[in-house]
Amino acid sequence: MAATETPSNSNAPLSNLEEWEDFLKVRYPEETAASSKPFQATDPNKAKEQFRNYEADARPSVREFYRLNHRHQTYDFVQAKKKEFLSLSRHKMGIWEAMEFLNTLVDDSDPDTDLSQLDHLLQTAEQIRRDGHPRWFILTGLIHDLGKILCLYGEPQWAVVGDTFPVGCGYSDKIVFHQFFADNPDSREPKYQTRTGIYSEGCGLENVHLSWGHDEYLYHVVKDYLPPEALYMIRYHSFYAAHREGEYQHLMNGRDKKMFAWVRAFNPYDLYTKSHERPNVEQLRPFYNELISEYFPTELRW
Ligand SMILES: [Fe+2]
Repeated sequence: MAATETPSNSNAPLSNLEEWEDFLKVRYPEETAASSKPFQATDPNKAKEQFRNYEADARPSVREFYRLNHRHQTYDFVQAKKKEFLSLSRHKMGIWEAMEFLNTLVDDSDPDTDLSQLDHLLQTAEQIRRDGHPRWFILTGLIHDLGKILCLYGEPQWAVVGDTFPVGCGYSDKIVFHQFFADNPDSREPKYQTRTGIYSEGCGLENVHLSWGHDEYLYHVVKDYLPPEALYMIRYHSFYAAHREGEYQHLMNGRDKKMFAWVRAFNPYDLYTKSHERPNVEQLRPFYNELISEYFPTELRW
């Protein structure tokens, strides 16, 4: 879709899922990223000052995407999606098979210039590998977006990708396009609009429902097989209000706060490793097959 075109009111305002990630790269440019200083948050003053511009400059399709996401991700919607998907009864497949399945996702991106979903996953994993991180970290990079297969079940884009945020309590004003929450029915539920909402101070993110999407879905698929650091990276990699803005600390417990160092360490690989250099899949496959079998059974429930 051209930037000047008015987006349709469909469930797929983005011409491809990367449009959301491209927007995040603009909002959180690499020089302020945690990559060089892994455990330092973004300068809050700088972020605040640029906040409005990110929204004003966003493509109409991205704006429409956020409008739908913030309008429809209610507490009840999240409960319904968890009930619908977390029985994990749709597929039985291995990790590589899931990568190939995700690769069948067809969007409007130009096949001559854009890389496949599988290429992106390999690029992320390869950069983590080049930087000398542990094997579980490389594997996390490889699989972290496999939850996007939700799109292949016919789920709308706004229920698969997008920055995640807690439902059932007040919305942080650091969440991009915060104003669109005015159209969310939960905005008119006083019990959902206090600082802690239905939760309690320091209750731990394990007890907090985030907006539904690919992070939470994949977490449930892989939670029995990976170390806790990897599971935090997977489950919270789109929770930008927390890992880039430092919001929602009051819902975290001590373990969450400690583990979020890993979520922040992962974020640069999620956002900035995509290049136009196509990885050599056949050459890399033996390494990744071995890595996958080190942690996962032949088949997982999806
Ligand atoms: Fe993701």
